[in-house]
Amino acid sequence: MKVGFVQFEPVFGEKERNIQRMLSLLDVGAGEEADLLVLPELCSTGYRFMSEEEVRSLSEEIPNGRTTETLIRFAEEAGLYIVAGICERSSDRYFNSAVLVGPEGFVAKYRKAHLFDEEKLWFTRGDTPFQVHSIAKAKVGMMICFDWFFPEVIRILALKGAQIVCHPSNLVLPYCQSALLGAAIQNRVFIITANRIGFERGLRFTGMSQIVDPAMRVLAKGERDKEEVRVVEVDPQFSDSKKVTERNNLWADRRVDLYTPLLKI
Ligand code: ACM
Repeated sequence: MKVGFVQFEPVFGEKERNIQRMLSLLDVGAGEEADLLVLPELCSTGYRFMSEEEVRSLSEEIPNGRTTETLIRFAEEAGLYIVAGICERSSDRYFNSAVLVGPEGFVAKYRKAHLFDEEKLWFTRGDTPFQVHSIAKAKVGMMICFDWFFPEVIRILALKGAQIVCHPSNLVLPYCQSALLGAAIQNRVFIITANRIGFERGLRFTGMSQIVDPAMRVLAKGERDKEEVRVVEVDPQFSDSKKVTERNNLWADRRVDLYTPLLKI
């Protein structure tokens, strides 16, 4: 299976321009025969909203919105799956969401559970469960950017059978790329972080999108400030073995009897 990330620089508020840029980069990934491509968080709108009016005018319904519909068309024509971050409107609420679309059309939506900083001014906290979806060649889950800071998210996705965690991002802190090496080995999953680059309304994004495998190897890493598409070959079943040593299994060795404080404190 071939998986990849699209790292690019959306321009705030220029939705049509951003969609066209995404499409040309997705074309590059499709040309490399990718089966799954991951785009950044809020990829068609930009990140730093400054008024509710901006959120209202740039947001869209899922799946009947301009960005999702365009991605569905691309996925159908190219015969691949795409995960992308979308600014979602749902009646009078807004969510920082991600969609999974594929050759069969719309597959799933995830709403970011852990909002970062000013996102709390505009978005409602996500209410969708952490779910795993079977696509043609793998089982995939989604989380969005700051969700990574909460290890429960990847843990639940891995426990539910995710082989690949797709991670649309707009990272500004310097920790994620290193920390997710640990998450990959601790859960034995592939993690595809698709980050954006550039400077927007006072925020600098960190680029360095990456694909990490269940043995903590970095299979591809983007540069800090360059638009790029990287596609690598992976075997999703590599994630299924939770054996660590002859006597250690990642799931069987868990001490859930001692973990009850996790749900109480
Ligand atoms: C972030 O969650 N966009 C930092």
